[in-house]
Amino acid sequence: MKILIIGATRGIGKALCEEALADGHQVRVLARDPAKMTMQHDNLEVVQGDVRSDQSVREAARDQEVVCSCIGVPITFSPVDLFSVAAATLIGVVQESVGQKLIVVTGIGAGDSKGHGGFLYDKLFKPLFLKTIYEDKDREEELIMASGLDWLIVRPAGLTNGPRSGTYRVYTDLAGVTSKRISRRDVADFILKETVEPAHFGNAVLLTY
Ligand SMILES: NC(=O)c1ccc[n+]([C@@H]2O[C@H](COP(=O)([O-])OP(=O)(O)OC[C@H]3O[C@@H](n4cnc5c(N)ncnc54)[C@H](OP(=O)(O)O)[C@@H]3O)[C@@H](O)[C@H]2O)c1
Repeated sequence: MKILIIGATRGIGKALCEEALADGHQVRVLARDPAKMTMQHDNLEVVQGDVRSDQSVREAARDQEVVCSCIGVPITFSPVDLFSVAAATLIGVVQESVGQKLIVVTGIGAGDSKGHGGFLYDKLFKPLFLKTIYEDKDREEELIMASGLDWLIVRPAGLTNGPRSGTYRVYTDLAGVTSKRISRRDVADFILKETVEPAHFGNAVLLTY
């Protein structure tokens, strides 16, 4: 598959890039600073751009079968708009390409996964440190869900840098569920399985061990 990854200089996007290449996919990465992309591979193309730029996203998404956003921001107490601005841009771009799929990573606590992160996360960490980030992730999810596209929202539990195990739970019905942890490589594993054999498109899924 031809996969565009936005946000692959570190974190989930980097893990996804490495695992996608290992699985034999053709990967294009959109990076603000391509010098941060230290990996090299015959099937990897790195293009410079910012997800806030309509033109960079449009050019990067050309000829791609899947567009996957793994963007993130550092903890902040200021208002955040990156996720909703990116969602609007991505929707506009993906709408123009017949058959292109859109995968967006948000996180535990976005949308109706609020209240499923465990006591410390739900009552302390998220309201204290992630309030403005998740306010914008909520807006991002609403835009994606209303887009009419072939979309998949991936909400990982608390992230680790553990290995790709391929063994984790995928929840769409969150009744009685409290998330635990998930490795970035297993988030990548799920995304790659969905690109090859879509089973959860049109849903927001919680990934957790
Ligand atoms: N930490 C957790 O436990 C947890 C749990 C659930 C969900 N999440 C979410 O999962 C996502 C990934 O988190 P992560 O910790 O793996 O990665 P991360 O460190 O948040 O990486 C963010 C990536 O987004 C890129 N990016 C930021 N702004 C950009 C822009 N304007 N244009 C293009 N790229 C941009 C960064 O590139 P640059 O090098 O250019 O900055 C970087 O590659 C985040 O949305 C995070 O909120 C995190």
